[in-house]
Amino acid sequence: MSEETIPFPGGPGPLRIGVLGSGSGTNMQSILDAISRGELDARVTCCAADVPGARILDRARAAGVPAEYIDPAPWKTKLEGPAEQAYVDFLRAHDVQVVALAGFMRIVKPGLLAAFPWRVLNIHPALLPAFPGVAAWKQALDYGAKVAGVTVHFVDAGTDTGPIIVQRSVPVLDGDTPESLHARIQVEEHKAYPEALRLLGEGRLRIRGRRVEVLPR
Ligand code: GAR
Repeated sequence: MSEETIPFPGGPGPLRIGVLGSGSGTNMQSILDAISRGELDARVTCCAADVPGARILDRARAAGVPAEYIDPAPWKTKLEGPAEQAYVDFLRAHDVQVVALAGFMRIVKPGLLAAFPWRVLNIHPALLPAFPGVAAWKQALDYGAKVAGVTVHFVDAGTDTGPIIVQRSVPVLDGDTPESLHARIQVEEHKAYPEALRLLGEGRLRIRGRRVEVLPR
């Protein structure tokens, strides 16, 4: 990968974010809350979920964000073919500049990535490259790690392999359960995602090799 500056995604006005999720949507909520507090110059223009009735859809609608379940069939763990195209069409119809995967439990494929080059971000509940994949907080606990955390990264063709934008760490404490550790990680997730989106929206990210540099204001 060569040096590449990731400029402001274009156009005046707030960064237009489309969120994809599968679950409760606390990360999307943290983005909405950061916008409300004036800490992130952005707008969530739409939200789609691959699970019918996912709580993230209710959260989006409560905030006035258009939200839809989009059938990912026939795939169980990935998004490809006509289903992928349906997601791309939905995001484009809502004029999205940046796609934020927020608990979207599916592997996205080159079709979506090509539609939004260097504009698909993911949040992963571990300090990558440790513990990619599912239930990363449980992986860290089972492994005996003393430090866990969260990573926000650009999505590339691999699984949880793209260039890292922001990481935040938390301690693993004696007596932690998967739930208590995940809760501690989520507190940091809710700071990390708005921060990464703010840096992207301000045009302050540059990728050199696989390193993401943060340019001064
Ligand atoms: C978050 O912990 C996120 O990091 C994780 O799913 C949770 C979604 O929570 N994502 C992954 O594990 C992706 N591999 P939320 O629906 O409350 O934002």
